[in-house]
Amino acid sequence: MNETELILTSILNCPRVDLYARELDLSMEQKDRYDRMLQRRANGEPLQYILGQCDFMGIQLDVDARVLIPRPETELLVELAIRELKTLRFGRPLRILDLGTGSGNVAIALAQFIDRARITSVDISSEAIEVARRNAAVHDVEHRIHFIREDMVHLLQHDNPDGPPYDLIISNPPYIKTSHLASLPRDVQREPVIALDGGEDGLYFYRQIIEKGPRFLERRGLLLMEIGDGQGPAIEEIFHKNKYYSNVRFEKDYTNIDRIVAAYRKDVLWGI
Ligand SMILES: C[S@@+](CC[C@H](N)C(=O)[O-])C[C@H]1O[C@@H](n2cnc3c(N)ncnc32)[C@H](O)[C@@H]1O
Repeated sequence: MNETELILTSILNCPRVDLYARELDLSMEQKDRYDRMLQRRANGEPLQYILGQCDFMGIQLDVDARVLIPRPETELLVELAIRELKTLRFGRPLRILDLGTGSGNVAIALAQFIDRARITSVDISSEAIEVARRNAAVHDVEHRIHFIREDMVHLLQHDNPDGPPYDLIISNPPYIKTSHLASLPRDVQREPVIALDGGEDGLYFYRQIIEKGPRFLERRGLLLMEIGDGQGPAIEEIFHKNKYYSNVRFEKDYTNIDRIVAAYRKDVLWGI
């Protein structure tokens, strides 16, 4: 659907086909809403914030200016996680740590597609945790997601808050260089800066997660992260400086750009 169709179907609460099946008859109140929505869009507000919703892997999530709008690339991250988790044959629940949960998209999709997933979701923003909790409740998976408002860097420096290690650590961390934030497209600049700012070189969170992650992972546990365009070589270097992983590999997105990095924790951690 184009943007006008999305706005109209949201105001009229009808499928797209209804827009063309008969002449549109908007009430005064609906016309008002339509004009206000167009005005907000003209002012550079992202369409998903105006609609208050977005689609992630077929799941409708509430979104607003408190959280990053989930991107299609992140669906690839979750799809890969699902494929990998399905190869684990043991009978116990699968333990997952989701770092930087935002709207809760990654955790909620994993909970919906994998019955035995038990997820700990961490975000530094209490507003994001509020949105994510609500989304989890709407989709009836809140009992399988433990939300923690915490700085992931702080959390990773301490002991695992949740007992045994995780089978999977998954993250789409902020990865834009601080100096690039001001030149992002106008609508992206409406998203929370804390969800975008990856520090001076954009790699701050990758360093933290790669360095501290092994203590939180099971033997042969998997670390999966979304990465920014062109960050692959620098991230590969961070992994190679760290001796606790094996099989570091990159997966491409639909535009043939390395978009996901996957690595397994080695069996034995010496001196950690
Ligand atoms: C790129 S967004 C990803 C959100 C969501 N997982 C997604 O894929 O759409 C990064 C998230 O990390 C959170 N974040 C930023 N710094 C953090 C920190 N130090 N500790 C925990 N979460 C942090 C932000 O609030 C934001 O929700």
